[in-house]
Amino acid sequence: MTETYRPHLHFSPRRGWMNDPNGMIRVDGIWHLFYQHDPDSTVHGPMHWGHGTSSDLVNWTEQPVALYPNALGTCFSGSAVETDVGVKLFYTAHSRTADGEDYQVQCLVHANDDLSNFESDASNPVLPNPGLAAFRDPKVIWHQASGKWVMLVTEGQCVGFYGSSNLRDWTYLSSFGEAHGRHSGGPWECPDMVPLAAPNGETVWVLIIGLNPGGYAQGSGTQYFLGSFDGTHFTNANPPQTELWLDYGRDYYAAQTFFERGGTKTPTAIAWASNWLYARQTKTGAFRGVMSLPRELRLVGTPDGLRVAASAPASVEAGFEGQGAPGTYRLDRRITLAPGEQLAIHLFGEDQPHFIVSRTSGNRGSIRTMRQPVDGMDGFGHDYAVDLPWPGTGALDLTLFIDRGLVELSAADGLIWITNLFFPAHPEAAVVMRSLEAIDA
Ligand code: FRU
Repeated sequence: MTETYRPHLHFSPRRGWMNDPNGMIRVDGIWHLFYQHDPDSTVHGPMHWGHGTSSDLVNWTEQPVALYPNALGTCFSGSAVETDVGVKLFYTAHSRTADGEDYQVQCLVHANDDLSNFESDASNPVLPNPGLAAFRDPKVIWHQASGKWVMLVTEGQCVGFYGSSNLRDWTYLSSFGEAHGRHSGGPWECPDMVPLAAPNGETVWVLIIGLNPGGYAQGSGTQYFLGSFDGTHFTNANPPQTELWLDYGRDYYAAQTFFERGGTKTPTAIAWASNWLYARQTKTGAFRGVMSLPRELRLVGTPDGLRVAASAPASVEAGFEGQGAPGTYRLDRRITLAPGEQLAIHLFGEDQPHFIVSRTSGNRGSIRTMRQPVDGMDGFGHDYAVDLPWPGTGALDLTLFIDRGLVELSAADGLIWITNLFFPAHPEAAVVMRSLEAIDA
């Protein structure tokens, strides 16, 4: 069971539990991916930070565990930056009060040159708790225009911004979120923020937020906001009720981008390919948890307005090209449909379709995504559709990255991504596409 669903071209831990990507940073050409990890169990337990490295984002080497629980608590999610004096990690120390309530504070850790040794700062916690039950997931970025470090932190159902010149002393700047985007019973987790160039050359800040529950596809989901950031406040460029999603699948959560010193024109994100609805119940043996593919983010103009699109880095595309292992492949198609026509996509040799692509009218389409329920996995079955602009050329480009049951569908030049886990009887069986009878357009 364990190895049947272990992807070849995605990161997964050798053993134990994994959830969110943490501390993502590229240093001296090496991509470092830390992650929420319990090395001793396949369910979420006392969190450590695991550590993987790669020179190409395709082949990963698991390194020794980086952060261990200590007197301040267990090690929840966080980030990494590179400074003149080395790499610094930020994480949330999570503990419980005498009444059993969550208690979360932000901590600073110093890494040695090759990121093999990690020392807690003597002044931890560097950001104490202001009286919030959910106060976690510090993401630190360098804000060039105001010449300071900025930390984004979960503050209940909002994100808090803090500023610092030395990474140790933090000043509250502002909060964003109330009445913006999607809210639910759960906190806004794992914030991140990157600047991207719009097609007109303008810089637009993309604020990324994990929402659990209440995601687009139920359970955990990753929404984003487009706007401006002046070093103190984030201002949403869209009407507050606008809801934008980095991925429309049920298995794309807690996305984070790699920090690269000096900034980057192509921020690269990785997410945890699971959902808290059933993350503790997925079929596994020695390990539980896989990461999504890395995706390079960019801004595109669409009939619906400015949106984030994403594509797999060239090294990942090449990795799929060269991969001969059964059940790991990439499929590219251009789908030409007349209004009202539909195409069904069947994966893993199964009779039930997993996707139905429809051109609903001259300029709109939809992708219906279907997954059969699995015994013992709560909320795993699904059937819903994602609406999209149909390309003016009449042909919709569609790519499927399939890796031992993990399916990432990208369409319309990366405007739409749908990431879903499957646990098929035959992960290596071929994809079949079938035309369906036309629907009334
Ligand atoms: C998101 C999350 C974070 C938290 C971590 C704990 O999946 O709940 O908010 O830091 O997981 O493992």
